[in-house]
Amino acid sequence: MNYPEYRPRRLRKNENFRRMIRETSLSVDDLVYPLFVTAGKKLKKPIDSMPGNFQMSLDYLVKEVKITKDLGIPAVLLFGIPEKKDEEGSGAYDRGGIIQRAVREIKDAVPDILVITDVCLCEYTSHGHCGLLDGDHVDNDSTLEILAETAVSHAEAGADMVAPSAMMDGQVLAIRDALDEDGFDDLPIMAYSAKYASSFYGPFREAAEGAPQFGDRTTYQMDPPNSDEAMREITLDVEEGADIIMVKPALVYLDIIRRAKEEFDLPLAAYNVSGEFSMIKAAETLGWIDGTRAMMECLTSIKRAGADIIITYFAKEAAALLKG
Ligand code: PBG
Repeated sequence: MNYPEYRPRRLRKNENFRRMIRETSLSVDDLVYPLFVTAGKKLKKPIDSMPGNFQMSLDYLVKEVKITKDLGIPAVLLFGIPEKKDEEGSGAYDRGGIIQRAVREIKDAVPDILVITDVCLCEYTSHGHCGLLDGDHVDNDSTLEILAETAVSHAEAGADMVAPSAMMDGQVLAIRDALDEDGFDDLPIMAYSAKYASSFYGPFREAAEGAPQFGDRTTYQMDPPNSDEAMREITLDVEEGADIIMVKPALVYLDIIRRAKEEFDLPLAAYNVSGEFSMIKAAETLGWIDGTRAMMECLTSIKRAGADIIITYFAKEAAALLKG
């Protein structure tokens, strides 16, 4: 294929030609919308760093899920902000806790949408780490029991899928075993398999009020320069029983998404995280980029890299646009 015999511009001449040879298409079916639920009533508190996103009390949450469903989005991913935090993050597995109540109410009011729950401790611990502390150390194996208990409590409330994000070794196996033991062998796990210690989670920590009170997450989340290690992390999760694997963040890890797609035969999710969302919103607000086009370009690039599922704060906007 050489110029002048091959002229790629021939097939770029107009939108119909471009449509005809387009290799990747984004669909509303690919999207998952993350939501933040907080205690109280009639609360819809804007998250400053994430325009269009809110901490919502249950009443508003249910309305928002209804809107999400009506846009054709197949699933929401829930994060809870509990009334009280403690050393052990006991709010995470409280049968009357914020997520457990939210799942029940959504399932009652909007049965026809998937409810996925984040399984982690950072929103529930007073120290803001994703696991239990032993001195200043985040202890792996004692955390597994709490994560398993949390997943079971979500399943009991009616969650359709659990998504462990704490990055403790063995968390998928611990959760799979606990779910099976309690009769939830049919409940799938979406594993945050390759989750990096990323600066792009900044706005989320405001949204979910889960910033670590000391230190950082580098002893449990992955080191950004690593790619082979991501494949080992994913292999572990597959062997432990993950049904869906995930790479997080998405945009600065498109190479990892592509590699995971090539090396593993499970549905692959990518988390287009808060900082990736906020950067576009900020640049749009400043008039520096066309936010809508940037959004679609980013989401399409995540799909092109190999993701089957995209978890994104853009879900509603993108769905509305895709609907036409
Ligand atoms: C909880 C969790 C985090 C995110 C999802 N689940 C925060 C973190 O690991 O610090 C980040 C999501 C985002 O930035 O959009 N562990």
